[in-house]
Amino acid sequence: MVTMPDPVEILHASFPALARPTRPAITLTYAQTLDGSIAVRADARLVISGPETKHLTHRLRAAHDAILVGVGTVLADDPKLTARRVGGPHPKPVVLDSRLRTPPTARVLQHPRGVVIVTTQQADAQRAAALQAQGAQVLRVPPGPNGVDLPAALAALRQQGIVSLMVEGGARVLTAFLRQRLGDWLLVTIAPFLVGGVPVLAQPVAPQPNPPSDLAAFPRVARPQWQAYGRDWVVWGRLAWPKATAPEPVHGGAP
Ligand SMILES: NC(=O)c1ccc[n+]([C@@H]2O[C@H](COP(=O)([O-])OP(=O)(O)OC[C@H]3O[C@@H](n4cnc5c(N)ncnc54)[C@H](OP(=O)(O)O)[C@@H]3O)[C@@H](O)[C@H]2O)c1
Repeated sequence: MVTMPDPVEILHASFPALARPTRPAITLTYAQTLDGSIAVRADARLVISGPETKHLTHRLRAAHDAILVGVGTVLADDPKLTARRVGGPHPKPVVLDSRLRTPPTARVLQHPRGVVIVTTQQADAQRAAALQAQGAQVLRVPPGPNGVDLPAALAALRQQGIVSLMVEGGARVLTAFLRQRLGDWLLVTIAPFLVGGVPVLAQPVAPQPNPPSDLAAFPRVARPQWQAYGRDWVVWGRLAWPKATAPEPVHGGAP
């Protein structure tokens, strides 16, 4: 009998070598339908994973020090971000939330490890106080193009001793990480349904504004592995980035 490699064990073993002084080792992960949808509407949750891939996701959560989502996911799904299906250990939850839209009633505020809400200096002090009163750590970093500055947020998490980070969505957050080449592993659950809903990536993930019509300009999974878990498939592997291209020539300048 052929034994399939266990992605959780392989990823977990790799984290110490992949973590850097400036950021944790990063796993990008999500569940999509066969047509690439992660939800029907951006403001509502769609349960995509079957029991076996839900169990795998919770094993993966337990293998990471921290789990990160955007505030859009908190507002739409109200996730707990625990590894309860496998009895823990629970990763530390992190929410990217530049305007502190996380409601004080959000379930993630009851997380046993306490949530980190990453925001900006400009965020409202009263909102921050309300979240801190619920036990949240409010971490202020500089603003970035899509909310908070991702490299600054990751450096701050690394300084707090986070070696491995699982990024679980949603669409805007996954797109931002990919556009900034922030990721070591990708693990995608694919459920055999066709939904025509919210696409997993919000915009092209090539770093340049006008990417050529050439797949070489985009990130990929090097040597992908895939296996069936119940009715779903899981595709996973190391992320590989396109070679940096030379800057566009400036016309009218010096030859
Ligand atoms: N199938 C799955 O695996 C899965 C997993 C998770 C979520 N989802 C689905 O995804 C949908 C939500 O996705 P979404 O795209 O609307 O929200 P999202 O990616 O969860 O959150 C995006 C928000 O995070 C904040 N943010 C702060 N800094 C950011 C940065 N550097 N980059 C990107 N975002 C940053 C921004 O809000 P501010 O400007 O207010 O800071 C931004 O609008 C829901 O339907 C949910 O059910 C699916």
